[in-house]
Amino acid sequence: MINLKNEEWGVQPEAERLVASVTRVEDHQMVVLRPKALEEYIGQNKIKESLQISIQACKMREDVLDHVLLVGPPGLGKTTLANVIAHEMEANIHITSGPVIEKQGDLAAILTNLEKGDVLFIDEIHRLSRVIEEVLYSAMEDFSLDILIGKGPSARSIRIDLNRFTLIGATTRSGLLTSPLRNRFGMILELDFYSVEDLMRIIKRSAGLLGIGITQEAAQITAERSRGTPRIVNRLLRRVRDFATVKRKSLIDEEDAVEALDSLEIDEYGLDYMDRKILKVLIEHYRGGPAGLRAIAAAVGIEADTISEVYEPFLIQTGFLIRTPRGREVTGKACQHMGYPMVRSTNQSSLFEDTSS
Ligand code: ADE
Repeated sequence: MINLKNEEWGVQPEAERLVASVTRVEDHQMVVLRPKALEEYIGQNKIKESLQISIQACKMREDVLDHVLLVGPPGLGKTTLANVIAHEMEANIHITSGPVIEKQGDLAAILTNLEKGDVLFIDEIHRLSRVIEEVLYSAMEDFSLDILIGKGPSARSIRIDLNRFTLIGATTRSGLLTSPLRNRFGMILELDFYSVEDLMRIIKRSAGLLGIGITQEAAQITAERSRGTPRIVNRLLRRVRDFATVKRKSLIDEEDAVEALDSLEIDEYGLDYMDRKILKVLIEHYRGGPAGLRAIAAAVGIEADTISEVYEPFLIQTGFLIRTPRGREVTGKACQHMGYPMVRSTNQSSLFEDTSS
């Protein structure tokens, strides 16, 4: 067994590059609004309860927290929750993401840099390559690394002991993960879209942190159009605040909220221009569907993954879209909302009357 320290590998700067790349691109204004402790974190009550117990038990045992998988659409607070967990465990957090870790050496650099009890957060963990994923198995299970050095007959395998750490993985859908990886997490926590009430609490808290007031009505209108997502409610707050600022107001009211949201073309369901474009393409080009994801993506001009991970979850959750084995279909609710006549129900072959014959 060979024990190598980071310095001997010369991996320190490399590890820093790999773990810093996510935070560097982050919106620093948003970071200010993030809760640090579990008790400041609004919503996701079931998740908070189970984390509270596990964290408390771990601290009583002076143990390292089990690996945690956070699952949910973008913007629901997976990174925030990872930071909260690290804060509660009084641990350092190292943040990276699946696509950044390209080589076994990248992962080795990160892992050998961890101190006992540190949290390693891997965002988009489903985008790790299979080779890297396999290296991660032994790191998660035995806190050791088996690395092949060299090629051909002179190749040899070395085992490196790691400090015990907590891996927090984040993914938009747990189905995107292979089962061996999923099975190595002690806790799998699925984040739900937030209720309007929770988003109102978040926007009021954020407004306070930004040093501006917001009326109940303005908070409600903004929360209702934030598609159940804290990241969106905080982003809209900043736009709504701009409208109040130019009017030299220190309290955001209903008028500011409506003006800002209308100017952003966000409708009363929280659908934006792209959501409506997706529905429109399905209705106009595919007579309501079914249509394949790639065909829709080509028609609206964005990546298929962006549709399935960013737009679709909310459209499905609010009942505008359904995913069937044959493709995506709009619902009657979508037709009504988009101002198209609906003739047949969704579980029939087409939502629209065939006017071509
Ligand atoms: N800001 C973003 N997400 C939040 C949450 N869940 N609770 C409090 N503030 C937040």
